[in-house]
Amino acid sequence: MSQELWTKVEQYFAPVIQEDEALKAAAKEGEKAGLPPIAVSPNEGKLLMLMAQMIGARKILEVGTLAGYSTIWLARGLSEGGRLITLEYEQKHAEVARKNIARAGLGEVVDVRVGDATKTMPELVKEGAGPFDLIFLDANKDGYPAYFEWSLKLAREGAVIIADNVVRDGGVIDAASKDASIQGVRRLNEMVAAEKRVSATAVQTVGSKGYDGFAVVLVS
Ligand code: SAH
Ligand code: DHB
Ligand code: MG
Repeated sequence: MSQELWTKVEQYFAPVIQEDEALKAAAKEGEKAGLPPIAVSPNEGKLLMLMAQMIGARKILEVGTLAGYSTIWLARGLSEGGRLITLEYEQKHAEVARKNIARAGLGEVVDVRVGDATKTMPELVKEGAGPFDLIFLDANKDGYPAYFEWSLKLAREGAVIIADNVVRDGGVIDAASKDASIQGVRRLNEMVAAEKRVSATAVQTVGSKGYDGFAVVLVS
């Protein structure tokens, strides 16, 4: 099985996914601004939206905004009156994202905060911004262990934490890897395995973005 086939199958499912103009524009504007092409795929974005809807999410936190592509999917999954906060380190990414989010009609629903999430997550705790119903981790992977710890402080009982890119082409099984992203994801998985307050699984994914996966973690 190949990348080419995974991409074709993803395209085959386009009528099911129904990525609209605002999402297509968000992806295109990110690319035009020179942002890296590492947003979630349409199929993955739709899954994020559906998960938010399935749990009736009213407060969502995202860590790693990029151009706001996943942000738009997630915010569309909010129930009436819901709000989303998304954390982004790069000012330039945040500016592109704010435009994309406004174009999607979500400017009043989404708050893009600029800064290092190891600083902005503790600020959210201090502010009492939570508790969140859904937290999506998708920033620098070496930061995942810290983001997971802060997420546990910010999540309500019954919340879902989703972490992107936990498979990395299978690289995650290489215990000796010198890649800080792999080690960050491995440490996250160990923390999840050892944490008594959560129940979790890993969903392996293939598609236009290659072979990767989501960790899905239920907080109790
Ligand atoms: N969720 C996006 C993709 C995010 S890519 C989508 O699927 O559409 C990862 C993003 O995390 C990048 O924009 C990067 O600038 C940001 N990032 C990296 N380190 C960070 C940090 N320490 N704090 C917050 N954001 C960070
Ligand atoms: C990378 C980051 C991501 O969030 C992603 O979905 C894919 C790749 C990366 O840093 O390579
Ligand atoms: Mg990702």
